[in-house]
Amino acid sequence: MAPYTIRKYQDQDREAVIDIFSKGLLTHVPSAFFHLLKQPRSILLLLSVPGALFLGSGSLLLFLLALPGLLVFLWMAARYPFKCYLSHALHTDFRDIRKSYLSDKGSCFWVAESEGQVVGMMCACPAQQGSREQKCLELLNLSVSPEYQGQGIAQSLIQTLFQFAQEQEYDAVVLNTICFNYPAQRVYEKMGFWKSHEAFDSLMWRLVAMPSFCYEYSVPSSL
Ligand SMILES: CC(C)(COP(=O)(O)OP(=O)(O)OC[C@H]1O[C@@H](n2cnc3c(N)ncnc32)[C@H](O)[C@@H]1OP(=O)(O)O)[C@@H](O)C(=O)NCCC(=O)NCCS
Repeated sequence: MAPYTIRKYQDQDREAVIDIFSKGLLTHVPSAFFHLLKQPRSILLLLSVPGALFLGSGSLLLFLLALPGLLVFLWMAARYPFKCYLSHALHTDFRDIRKSYLSDKGSCFWVAESEGQVVGMMCACPAQQGSREQKCLELLNLSVSPEYQGQGIAQSLIQTLFQFAQEQEYDAVVLNTICFNYPAQRVYEKMGFWKSHEAFDSLMWRLVAMPSFCYEYSVPSSL
């Protein structure tokens, strides 16, 4: 296991960070596809459309082609929200990472470096919590390169964030993770987060039946 250090983002990290972020996000597409496949509306679609086409046209070929066609459609539907999230991030906060996360003292962006290479990342900014009385920090975009996973890098990044949250006098850290991201949920729970509620980030996520689990951590006055 190669040693690693956690440090703040520097401009020369940009390419590696975007690569880790994009790959980390798109690793969820197969799980998203199987999640979507298990939804009653997908099962109904897969059962009814080929049958209806066969009964309507009498064509066995159409019947046989309908199933793979529907599976491709569901794969695209499962991938779409992740592609949109990625494209949105690359055109907004990731366009100028320094300006988005390092120009205000309430936000930050960290990377994990091992043998001169960026192998993990995570950022944080003040949470948009509307009516909440508490001052909350939102953990965003935690990702570790596949070859470096399982070495405690995510835990170290989160520990760094806890330290930051305490220094900046935040009351709590909040985050969202997609409902089927069990490895991430295990990391958060191990680090002391608790699941507060479930929510759909937008209509797009509701349409594909993928709620987010919202987690919270109360920042102690001393770590
Ligand atoms: C989730 C992720 C960040 C974890 O990073 P990591 O550096 O491998 O995590 P750690 O090594 O610090 O693991 C911490 C704990 O999480 C659990 N865990 C981590 N990866 C796991 C996996 N693939 N399966 C099961 N449990 C896992 C383990 O309980 C581990 O504790 P242990 O060391 O006592 O076994 C990483 O898998 C990743 O980048 N995934 C893709 C992007 C992503 O999903 N990001 C989260 C967005 S909300």
